[in-house]
Amino acid sequence: MMNLCRKLYLGVFLSLFVSGLALAAPDIAAGKEKAGMCFNCHGAEGNSKRSNFPSLAGQKPAYLVNQLRAFREGTRENGLMQNQAANLTDAEINNLAAFFASVKNISAGGDKALADKGESKAPMCFGCHGNKAMGMGVTPRLAGQYPAYLQRQLQAFKDGTRKNGPMRGIAKMLSAEEVSAVTEYMGSLK
Ligand code: HEC
Ligand code: HEC
Repeated sequence: MMNLCRKLYLGVFLSLFVSGLALAAPDIAAGKEKAGMCFNCHGAEGNSKRSNFPSLAGQKPAYLVNQLRAFREGTRENGLMQNQAANLTDAEINNLAAFFASVKNISAGGDKALADKGESKAPMCFGCHGNKAMGMGVTPRLAGQYPAYLQRQLQAFKDGTRKNGPMRGIAKMLSAEEVSAVTEYMGSLK
C-alpha cells in the first residue's frame, strides 16, 4: 500500500512538472474572449447551472490544461468535448485555463445528510486533491462541483472508460454508498 501511494504521488508530481512547462505567460483577457463559446454548456464564466456540465470556475489551471489536451488528443473521451477541443492551440488552452482558474467558484452544494456521512472518507482524498479538495496542480478541485458529475467520473474511472491519472484504483475501492456520500460532501464544500 505504501509503495502504491509513493508511485501515485510520483506520477502526480511528474505530470505537474511537464504541464508546468506549458503554462508560461498565459493571457487571461484572451482566454476570457475565447471562453464565450464554453459558457453555453459550462455556464456564465464557467459556473455551471446544470449537473451534466462540470463547473470550470476556480479549477486548477494545470488540471484544465491537461484535460483540454486529453480531449484534443482523444485520450479522454467525450464526443461534445472532443469537438470543442479539437482545434484549440496550446496557447489558447493555456489562456482558457488561466481565465477559468481566475473566476470565483459558486459551490453547487450537496445533500446535507449524505454529505455528513461522506465527511469521514474525505481525508484520504485531500492528500492529493488538496485541503478541503480545493485542488493541487494537476489534481482537480472537487469542492463545489456537482455531485452527479463527480459520480459519473468515478464510475468512468471504475469502468476504465476514463483512464488518465491514478483514480482507477481509488475509485474501485469505493462502494456505491461511499461514492454517493463522499461526492455530496465534496459538492457541499466552498
Ligand atoms: C456542447 C457543450 C459543451 C461546450 C460548448 C463545452 N463543453 Fe466542456 N464539457 C462538456 C461536457 C458534457 C463535459 C463532461 C465530459 C465528461 O463527462 O467527461 C465537459 C468537460 C469539460 C472539462 C473537464 C472538466 C473536469 O472537471 O474534468 C473541461 C476542462 C472543459 N469541458 C472545458 C471546456 C472549454 C474550455 C470549453 C470552451 C472552449 C468547453 N468546455 C465547451 C460540454 C461542453
Ligand atoms: C494519489 C492521488 C489521489 C487521491 C488519493 C485521490 N485522487 Fe482523485 N484524482 C487524482 C488525479 C491526479 C486526478 C486527475 C486525473 C486526470 O488527470 O484525469 C483525479 C481526479 C478525480 C476526479 C475527476 C474530477 C473531475 O473534475 O473530472 C474525481 C471525481 C476524483 N478524483 C475523486 C476522488 C475522491 C472522491 C478521492 C478520495 C476517495 C480521490 N479522488 C483521491 C488523484 C487522486
